[in-house]
Amino acid sequence: MNYEISQDVEEIINRIEKENISFRDKTVLVTGGAGFLGSWTCDVLVKQGAYCICLDNLSSGRFENISHLMDKKNFRFINHDISEPIFFGLTHHPRGICIGDISRIDIVMHMASRASPFEFKKYPIPILKSNTLGTMNALGIVKAHNALFFYTSTSEVYGNPPDTAVPTPETYFGHVNLV
Ligand SMILES: NC(=O)c1ccc[n+]([C@@H]2O[C@H](COP(=O)([O-])OP(=O)(O)OC[C@H]3O[C@@H](n4cnc5c(N)ncnc54)[C@H](O)[C@@H]3O)[C@@H](O)[C@H]2O)c1
Repeated sequence: MNYEISQDVEEIINRIEKENISFRDKTVLVTGGAGFLGSWTCDVLVKQGAYCICLDNLSSGRFENISHLMDKKNFRFINHDISEPIFFGLTHHPRGICIGDISRIDIVMHMASRASPFEFKKYPIPILKSNTLGTMNALGIVKAHNALFFYTSTSEVYGNPPDTAVPTPETYFGHVNLV
């Protein structure tokens, strides 16, 4: 990890610790963990002392985003398409692949989706599958492990914001015509 990125990761950790947010000792599954948002999340989780499982099919993400984490004891990379079922803590399941040696998942952060409008045109079906079947499979893991679920959705839900809402504060409710 280069110096600037490690400074930013420190800054993120300082800010979330001020809010008493800690992922230390939690087992966190990050789908889309090799992407833009996901890889930053993996950096923060590993540094904060979580056990971070990065699941990604490397469709739009890059292995270089996470390669510096591969030798960390609290990081694991699983190359998998979340549109296909995956089961943790089981050695056999008729419907999908199993990761038997990880029996506990505390949090699922679901970020596995290409995010650019150009890609929406080029890969509509895989993106649809990631956000439907992928979300269903991620929620299946949540249910099986009684975990928390975090979903990044899209900034499009805010509609077309005025310039004053960029960058977008947490208090911003959006600019969407629902009629
Ligand atoms: N970037 C932003 O500013 C922003 C803002 C709001 C929400 N989001 C949402 O966050 C999510 C991630 O965005 P990003 O900017 O990091 O995109 P990204 O393309 O950099 O990352 C997506 C990651 O998901 C992986 N992926 C895609 N489909 C997959 C599948 N079926 N199975 C496993 N892995 C898969 C890709 O390989 C990639 O690593 C998207 O859902 C996006 O809509 C992004």
